[in-house]
Amino acid sequence: MIYLNGAWMPIEQAMVPVLDRGFIFGDGVYEVIPCYSGHPFRLREHLARLQSSLDGVRITNPYSVERWDELVREIVVKNPMVDQYVYLQVTRGVAPRDHAFPKDVKPTVFMMSNPLTTPPQEQREHGVAAVTVADNRWLRCDIKSVSLLANCLLRQTAIDAGAVESVLLRDGLLTEGSASNIFVVKNGVIITPPKSNFILPGITYDVVIELARAHRMPLEIRPVSEAEVRDADELWLTSSTKEVLSISSLDGKPVGHGESAGKPGPVAARMYQLYQDFKRTVMRVPANV
Ligand code: PDD
Repeated sequence: MIYLNGAWMPIEQAMVPVLDRGFIFGDGVYEVIPCYSGHPFRLREHLARLQSSLDGVRITNPYSVERWDELVREIVVKNPMVDQYVYLQVTRGVAPRDHAFPKDVKPTVFMMSNPLTTPPQEQREHGVAAVTVADNRWLRCDIKSVSLLANCLLRQTAIDAGAVESVLLRDGLLTEGSASNIFVVKNGVIITPPKSNFILPGITYDVVIELARAHRMPLEIRPVSEAEVRDADELWLTSSTKEVLSISSLDGKPVGHGESAGKPGPVAARMYQLYQDFKRTVMRVPANV
């Protein structure tokens, strides 16, 4: 069951007019919220980011936080899957094609839920391949916009190279992945770029930083150079659907040094475990379910 503008229906019945500005201009924003055993993870934080994306593109939020909260919980109940991710999007609405904002238009609200498949065991054990690509996106990457053409092209560059993610570099500095945030580990220190207009403020990024601080793991939030990315002991990507995943090769070369080169490192393994434990505590779900 999906939600469209106030009504629940099977996805096959959901129709949006072709003049929706989401379709014509990519004029809208979205969120992806993981839900474990029926519990939305970090829902308030996702809804706060939704608000800042809406503010960034000047769309009035059609619902209160309480209404969004209800809707997310409702869609999870209507779709009986253990782990799922809720996708929601708000576009500026339907209007004759004109770049300027239409007056008095109602935003289009769409929500669906799909099974959440976190990375398979094979990827956990061996890590994944990534390639570096020049970050050619616009300068408001902090907005979770549905205009994802640049991100799709950047992801496809990775796929075409037999990799799973592209690590983006802008002016000699690390930004993020095509659909993830990136962390570097050097000499036991976890390093990641600060929030800015060049990256999406990831919810998983925040959780990882909180966990590092709570467990007194050395952490630096500062600009990361291309050289540091290439010389890293460990590289990770984080997102709501991939959680914390090691990148074990970059541009065809093993990540890391010595014995652990080309393999997920110990800091990643610790953070992955902390993340799993944290998920369970928050959800009050017993281990091994
Ligand atoms: N993408 N950066 C970009 C460009 C992203 O698209 C995403 C997530 C992230 C990580 O954010 P979070 O930890 O809040 O998921 C960073 C989602 C999963 C998507 O578009 O499907």
